[in-house]
Amino acid sequence: MRKLPTLETDRLVLRPFLLSDATVVQRLAGDRAVADTTLTIPHAYVDGLAEQWIVGHEGAWTRHEMAVLAVTEPESGLVGAISLRIELAQQRAELGYWIGVPFWGIGYATEAARAMVAFGFQKLGLHRVYAQHFTRNPSSARVMTKIGMRHEGILREHFFRWGQPEDVAVWGLLRHELP
Ligand SMILES: CC(C)(COP(=O)(O)OP(=O)(O)OC[C@H]1O[C@@H](n2cnc3c(N)ncnc32)[C@H](O)[C@@H]1OP(=O)(O)O)[C@@H](O)C(=O)NCCC(=O)NCCS
Repeated sequence: MRKLPTLETDRLVLRPFLLSDATVVQRLAGDRAVADTTLTIPHAYVDGLAEQWIVGHEGAWTRHEMAVLAVTEPESGLVGAISLRIELAQQRAELGYWIGVPFWGIGYATEAARAMVAFGFQKLGLHRVYAQHFTRNPSSARVMTKIGMRHEGILREHFFRWGQPEDVAVWGLLRHELP
């Protein structure tokens, strides 16, 4: 597949990011509550960072490293992001996502994650999709449960975030387990 795909679900369209999304990315991902439970979103989310991030998506896809899609809905437009960090040699990818705070709790992460996981298995031919979350992030655990992932274990104090060690839960789904 040459270009990043567009995926449709009942309520959402997952599409490649556009440079014109940068302002909204900066506003939503710039919320400390969103950055807090991720490993990579910086805080403060300074000017220019969103553009830099978006510009990198196409190359990362072309190099088969990463599929990043904007989570959009008809009324509000961009509400979040969803990604697969791909390791083709191992036929696996790591699922990642964030949703802007005003849109939490209405199932968007779950709906987007389901579509992205199906894409990984069906179109990328993956064998395994896995995901990780800080154990202090129970809503992400719910998302992983709802999409049929299996809890595989806890890596104790595996990452540092904000200078503090974080226990990390690892979840996985194998191709033949796809619900
Ligand atoms: C984690 C995140 C993506 C969830 O997005 P979302 O769109 O609100 O997720 P959903 O609505 O699909 O599902 C959330 C579930 O968590 C539940 N939940 C929310 N807060 C919770 C809490 N404190 N304890 C337990 N469950 C909780 C919700 O009730 C819902 O479950 P339900 O459908 O069984 O009721 C969002 O909170 C977020 O972007 N957080 C910051 C970034 C982040 O942590 N990304 C993931 C890194 S692993």
